[in-house]
Order: sequence, then C-alpha cells, then structure tokens
Amino acid sequence: MLNLTKKWALLLGFATCLALPLTAVIPLPQELQVLETPPFVMTEETSLVTDSAFRAEAEIAAEELRRSTGFALPISDAGAEITLPAIFFQKDTAIEGSEAYALEVRSQQVVIRAATPAGAFYGYQTFRQLLPPQVYSRTKRPGVKWVAPACTVKDAPRLQWRGLMVDDCRHFLGGAAIREMIDAMAAYKLNTLHWHLTDDQGWRIEIKAYPELTAKGATRDNSALPRDRWRPDGKSYGPYFYTQEEIHDIVAYAAARHITIVPEIEMPGHALCLLTAFPELSCTGGPFKPRWMWGVEPDILCAGNDAVFPFMEKILDEVMALFPSKYIHCGGDEAPKDRWNVCPKCQARIQEKGLRNSHHLQTWFIQHFADYLESKGRHLIGWDEILEGGLPKGAAVMSWRGKQGGIRAAAMGHNVVMAPNDYAYLDYGQGLTYAQDPYEYNGYCITVAKTYSIDPTAGIPEHMQRHVIGLQGNLWSEYIWDGADQQWKAWPRAAALSEAGWTAQEKRSWEDFAKRIPGAVTRLRFLGINCAPLPSPLEPVETK
Ligand code: ACM
Ligand code: ZN
Repeated sequence: MLNLTKKWALLLGFATCLALPLTAVIPLPQELQVLETPPFVMTEETSLVTDSAFRAEAEIAAEELRRSTGFALPISDAGAEITLPAIFFQKDTAIEGSEAYALEVRSQQVVIRAATPAGAFYGYQTFRQLLPPQVYSRTKRPGVKWVAPACTVKDAPRLQWRGLMVDDCRHFLGGAAIREMIDAMAAYKLNTLHWHLTDDQGWRIEIKAYPELTAKGATRDNSALPRDRWRPDGKSYGPYFYTQEEIHDIVAYAAARHITIVPEIEMPGHALCLLTAFPELSCTGGPFKPRWMWGVEPDILCAGNDAVFPFMEKILDEVMALFPSKYIHCGGDEAPKDRWNVCPKCQARIQEKGLRNSHHLQTWFIQHFADYLESKGRHLIGWDEILEGGLPKGAAVMSWRGKQGGIRAAAMGHNVVMAPNDYAYLDYGQGLTYAQDPYEYNGYCITVAKTYSIDPTAGIPEHMQRHVIGLQGNLWSEYIWDGADQQWKAWPRAAALSEAGWTAQEKRSWEDFAKRIPGAVTRLRFLGINCAPLPSPLEPVETK
C-alpha cells in the first residue's frame, strides 16, 4: 500500500514537473498543444534568426534573454547560413490579426510566426513564459537549465485595448516607475498605458506654450496624511512634472514594447492646477492653489468663456505631437456643476446654444473637443460622466462607475473601454491582512478572483459587443507613494485583467487560472516587480 502511494506521488510529481512551465502561461492562448517530443533547451550555442520586419523585436528578446542566461545569443538575418539550435522570428502574412501569432517549440528550434511586429513580440512573450521563471531576472542566473516544453500555440487577443491607468498627479512616480510598469505589462500582453497627467493635485506635463502650468501647478503646499486624509502633512510636494523630452523617450520605450500611451488631460473638472496658473479660465476668477486634499474640486473650467477653447486646443496640439495614440483622453469625470449653475457666462452659453441645463452644457463642451480631435484624425475618450447630457458624437466612453455606462454607450454604438471600479480599480484593497498592506484603499476589497471574474461584454446585445474595444485596470495614486507601491497594487491582479481582456470568454476558468497565477507572482518578482502575495484563501467569486 505504502509503495503504491509512493509510486503515485512520484508519478504525480513528474506530471507536475512536466506541466510546470505551461502553468505559467498567462493570458491563456486561444490554442495550446503540448507535444510529447523532447523540449527545447537554450544554451550558449543558441542564436536568434530574424526576418528584417521583426529585427527590433528580436533585439529586445535577445537583450532580455542575455541578461538572465548570460548567453551571447547572436542575431542573424534570415537567409544566412544557420546552425541549430535557434529561435526564429518569421513574417507570415497568412496569420490574421494585428496582434496574432503562432509559436512552435521543438527540440532544436523555436519558430515565432506573425504578420505584424506586435504579433512577433507576443510570440516571444509566450515563449519566454515557457522557460523557467528565472528568465525574467535582470541579472545573470547561473545553474538554471533553460528548458521550454515542446508545444504549438496559435493565439490572438479578444480585445484590442488591454490597459492600465497610472496616476502621476496625486503622487508623482517618475520615469523609472513607468518603464518598470511597461516591462511588466509587456510580459502580460497588456498594450495600452493610460497616463493620467493632470488633476486638481498636480499638473505633470510640460506645455511649452504655457510654462505657467508647471511653474504654478506642479507643486502643492501639502499632501493628505497617509492615515488621516482630512489633515495636511505640512510638506511642500514638488515641483514634479515630465519634460517633453522625457515624455518623448517614454513613449518610444513603450512603442518598442507594443504599448500605446494614451495621455489624459482632464477637462472641464479636475483642472484646479490649470486654474491656479490661469484663474481667468474659471467661473469665479480665483485665486486658486493646487489642492492638497484628495477628492473633487468644485472649481472647474468655465464653459461660457470663449478663451477656454483655443487655450485647451493649444494644449491638445502639444499633447498630440507627443503622443501618436488614436485616442486622447479628455477626462470629463466628476465635474460638479455648482459654479456653472450660477455663472452668468455659463448660463448665457446655455441660453445661446438652446441647451437644457448644465449637464447638456458639459456634453456641448466635450463635443467641441471631440470634434477638434476628430479634425486632427484622433478620437476623444472620456469617463462615463460624458454620457450625462447625451453622448458627444464620435466619443468613446471609459466606464468606471460600474459597467452600466459602458453597456449603455455600447448599445448606442459608441466604443467603450470597461474599467469598472468594482472589478478593475486596482488601488482598492486586494484581500490582504493589515500587516501585509496597511494602506488598503478605504476598506474596499477587490480580490484577484473578483478581478478575474469580469466578462467585459456581459449584458450587451451580441451585435453591439464589438463596441467594447477594451478592458483596463486603474491605479489612482492617493495611496500609492512610489513605483514599488504601484507595483504592489497592480500585480498580480493586472495579470487577471490581462487574461480577461485577451482570452476568449469560453476558454477561461477561474479554477485553471488559480493554478497558473502563483507562477506569475514568481515571474514578476524575478523581473524585480514588487508583486503582492496572493490572498489566502484564494477564493472564487461569482461572475456578475
Ligand atoms: C474616476 O475614478 N473619477 C474616473
Ligand atoms: Zn462659467
């Protein structure tokens, strides 16, 4: 009896060992077949071979693999004389989809095929996940056998926008934090970084036409105390902002990793730092100071003041020159109407345009900038409050107050990115103990299981589901002080969002993901990411 048990244990151990690299693959590919043939082993003799279209992707792959393995991993052009073992990057226009790829791992060669550089990059990311977790290390890891199981993969994403939002306004995290986030996002096939750059508490982007914005809006007198948000800490914070040169470099770093940065310039609300520098653009004339308390500011841009429009357009011109993204985020959330309701200029605008009330004035205001961006070949995206007075034509909606705004907007034929606070606000607590995380946001709790349970298109008629273009997690930074805090909040839940945005709904299962997510924690930590532990128990929740 004992013998038999031992035998089973051995067999089980062997099976686990074989299955281990595959258990790390997140997001789960659309098709993955394990082959019962010998694995690929990366050695000092391995080289990379690439078609010219994927040279840049092969360079990034080689650079990352060299760091952890210490191997030379030379890159040669396809067509040159090749010796095996080798990792091939091959252009194949028969592979359909702008991010699709095929991957074949055999004992002597790894072949990554795609029609696009993004597809080739994702093929490499899946291959990297098949190797031992130390492959993510930024320093050499001697003594590891770099084995990847033989398999074939065919893969393409469900949604085109798989995002994270970072907030540099409440706390400024800096370029190193952004780059580390980009590295981790790339490993999990997240492709959109929404960069929240302006708010009541800080203006964080250099605008050359208006240097006053950063001269007066990038420093605040105080911040809220970490555990007593109603009291100021007595410490000046700033000046903190990104120069255009720094932004240019970060945009290029992200683009090389197939991540689009979507900038956010908040309007008409969350604009106090702008109004500090230019109080004449408010309803009351000010004066103002950047806000130190968290929460929402009642003073917003005056929609009745004609000067506001060319002023904001000039900002958007500089923003568009820096960020090639198709979408520009113009905020639109939490814009209290207290000032507009009593401002003679705003009321005159409502009369002049035949609008019903201040909510419709906000729609008119956002419509102006949606049209402006369209005239430049871009699209406006805004938080779901832009629905309140009727949805501006051509605008896409980011649904944050639950999924309802997104469901409504998609049903009306508008593009939607789902970022609902009850699944995707990654600054909320994640089910850890107080000792593990004393700065959980206000007691809210979204476990990794809860995040995983989102179906981004649930509740939308099938023929309108194509309007749900994305899924995104948000990392507001009231309770994030630096890059390490940000990583702690983001991971591992962002890996759950990644799978919810990438993998077909019918292929997803919490039970299966629960087996793979511990591997992601290990890998992220090798990458140097301050990944939070998984909560215990790792309990499942019902999908809404
Ligand atoms: C938001 O959380 N105010 C978009
Ligand atoms: Zn006004």
